[in-house]
Amino acid sequence: MPLEDDFGRDVTGIRISLTDRCNFDCVYCHNEGLGDTRGPMDPQDDEMSADEVIRILEVVSDLGVDSVKFTGGEPMLRDDLEEIIRRTPDEMEVSMTTNGTFLPGRAPDLVDAGLERVNVSQDALDKEHFAELTKSGAYDRVIEGVEAALSAGLAPVKLNMVVFEPTAGYVPQMVDHVARNEGLRLQLIEYMPEISGHPEWAIDIERVHGWLEEQAHRIERREMHGRRRYFVEAGAVDDVDSTVALENSGVNPTGTEQPEEGLVEVVDPVENAQFCANCHRVRVTHDGKFKGCLNRHDDHRSMGSMSRDEIRETFEQTVANRVPYYGEYLVKEDGEWVPNEEYIDVLDQSAAADD
Ligand code: 5AD
Repeated sequence: MPLEDDFGRDVTGIRISLTDRCNFDCVYCHNEGLGDTRGPMDPQDDEMSADEVIRILEVVSDLGVDSVKFTGGEPMLRDDLEEIIRRTPDEMEVSMTTNGTFLPGRAPDLVDAGLERVNVSQDALDKEHFAELTKSGAYDRVIEGVEAALSAGLAPVKLNMVVFEPTAGYVPQMVDHVARNEGLRLQLIEYMPEISGHPEWAIDIERVHGWLEEQAHRIERREMHGRRRYFVEAGAVDDVDSTVALENSGVNPTGTEQPEEGLVEVVDPVENAQFCANCHRVRVTHDGKFKGCLNRHDDHRSMGSMSRDEIRETFEQTVANRVPYYGEYLVKEDGEWVPNEEYIDVLDQSAAADD
């Protein structure tokens, strides 16, 4: 049975940052809520070892956590990623978020080790725009990475696109892209300005929902968190002038006749109490601390020397102290989200404990 916090939220997922190193320098990056920690590419002392990662997974698996997402930085900068996935408890579903550049050549091994799903961050469909957003010239390599994931059997591959001022105009093209290329899905992720600065880049995500409603031939609402899924047919988006055809994307994973259509979801956490009410995951930072909420800096808990008992105890405390960020940690007063007085003390105490 999973552990439940005081707000009735089961903790069934864990998101583990394996490194804070990255070969990209995306302008929007929130660095998993750790601020600007972009480090050098060389291995760092404070990264958890494979043994430590596995110990955490074994403990939380016993406590009812049934899925793990590996993330970074760029998780594929770790050479022992395949080993970590191979040693992950069998009961857990394993997925990863990557920038895709290291998938060519490694995707089959990852699948062999037990990787079941992948999200590839892809915010643009042309080289120049991609380079502006990621400060990297690796556009072709990312496309190859997506193709490699598809041929290794990881379909559907989810593309993560952060929607903010610099990308909003490219949403139609990206929607058309997933509609035409079988095996792709699109996650449009609302830009989170809270932890990456540049509030002026934020856009009104309702505009995106409205536009998708017009394009979709079918919309499903997911029971659990009311999140909408938009199905858009190939050719339905008319203000798109060029397409990118992926190799291997004609592969129909189920072998059934399906219309050419794309599935698009919008991840819109900003100022969204419903989103927080449905959060079921705890995070682990690359240097081995539990973190109950992406947006918070005052809830990191070190696991000490990482004995199984210490891990279990720290996890239980983390779950017990989880609160929905929007709606509880922040509350709405006169139309503004303001810190809840109830947690100010907690904030001061944990700041003191960090000193
Ligand atoms: N806002 C929204 N999404 C972000 N990501 C990174 N920074 C931000 C941000 N400021 C997403 C990217 C990446 C994933 C790990 O986090 O889409 O794929």
